[in-house]
Amino acid sequence: MYCGRRESFRGAKVVPMRVISVVGARPQFIKLAALDWELKASGHEHLILHTGQHYDEAMSGAFFEELSIQPPAWNLEVGSGLHGAQTAQMLDGCERVFLESDPDWVLCYGDTNSTCAAAIGAVKLRVRLAHIEAGLRSFNRTMPEEHNRVVADHLSDVLFAPTHEAMHQLEREGLSGRSVLVGDVMADVVRNVKRKIGPESAGSGDFIATVHRAENTDQRDRLESIVDALASLPSPVVLFAHPRLVQRAEEHGIELRRGSIRVEAPTSHLGIMSAIAAGRGVVTDSGGLQKEAFLMERPCTTVRKETEWPETLLDGWNVLVEPDKLAEVALRPNPTTKPNPDSFGDGHAAARIVQSLENFTD
Ligand code: UD1
Repeated sequence: MYCGRRESFRGAKVVPMRVISVVGARPQFIKLAALDWELKASGHEHLILHTGQHYDEAMSGAFFEELSIQPPAWNLEVGSGLHGAQTAQMLDGCERVFLESDPDWVLCYGDTNSTCAAAIGAVKLRVRLAHIEAGLRSFNRTMPEEHNRVVADHLSDVLFAPTHEAMHQLEREGLSGRSVLVGDVMADVVRNVKRKIGPESAGSGDFIATVHRAENTDQRDRLESIVDALASLPSPVVLFAHPRLVQRAEEHGIELRRGSIRVEAPTSHLGIMSAIAAGRGVVTDSGGLQKEAFLMERPCTTVRKETEWPETLLDGWNVLVEPDKLAEVALRPNPTTKPNPDSFGDGHAAARIVQSLENFTD
């Protein structure tokens, strides 16, 4: 069961908290938006620590502006690097900020290296730590994201799970006593964006594609077969190209601009959501986009061996493929059912999180 709605607590006297959100990479800014809106509305002091993991305007600043998120109070400007070095620099910066600002809570989000650094930084100083989007697993121990999720979940004082499946996983790992099912904060934001986009068009146009994971970009043959498959599709493919994809394609001598592919720079959240709404389907290796496609009622083809969001696989709304089957699967007929938006909560996840932090007792 989801814990109660915030409305039932309105009017009760709440002591203002100082909350620091640690973020650094693109998908985290979307999750952050839901918390920033809610914490501000609830009269708490919310301060944002940006690690600088993502730094290009299109990967970072644009999201703050578009989603009306307050500017970061600190930016560690860590930038790119090897995982260990990048995480260590972030940890150093987080520790300094937590010491200087003495927060009541640190919030970490999702599964990036910024999440891992925030979690270790908070727990070492015995600052209360909450993990937003807890309980997701790919069970693929070669993914850096999997290490980051496990660390954040096991170190947190409170774990906010987006789905029933995530709650079950936390239970299997002995963490249910600290876990709360709240729904998905990204779904809060998607519901908001959907209202801005208005009634969706027929969805008969382009494919919307993104490819950025190391396991798809770093080996030449695999990347080439993904790009070949996209280029061979009979409809235009708008490929929003993450910097890692552009760099790896260049290094491997793979031309992205061919066949059906139209390469575009990474776009804003509203930009990609509008493109999905107008498109016929999504091809991706992103976690968040699988879910966003589902919530926008567009079929998704995911170039990965596993997904952290098994709810999206229902009735074939999302299908996992290897590159050699990508084109065939992307062209499958649309499912005859409708995806259930409530699989990811009712749009009040952030309100439940704030309420749960307010009511927390050790
Ligand atoms: C990170 C997250 C991943 C998330 C993704 C969203 C980790 C381990 N991974 O992966 O979970 O899905 O963000 O995008 O934290 N680069 C730029 N400009 C930028 C940022 C990155 O050019 O603003 C380039 C750099 O060459 C960098 C590469 O992209 O080396 C990868 O960036 P990095 O932050 O290491 O990881 P992501 O692949 O973005």
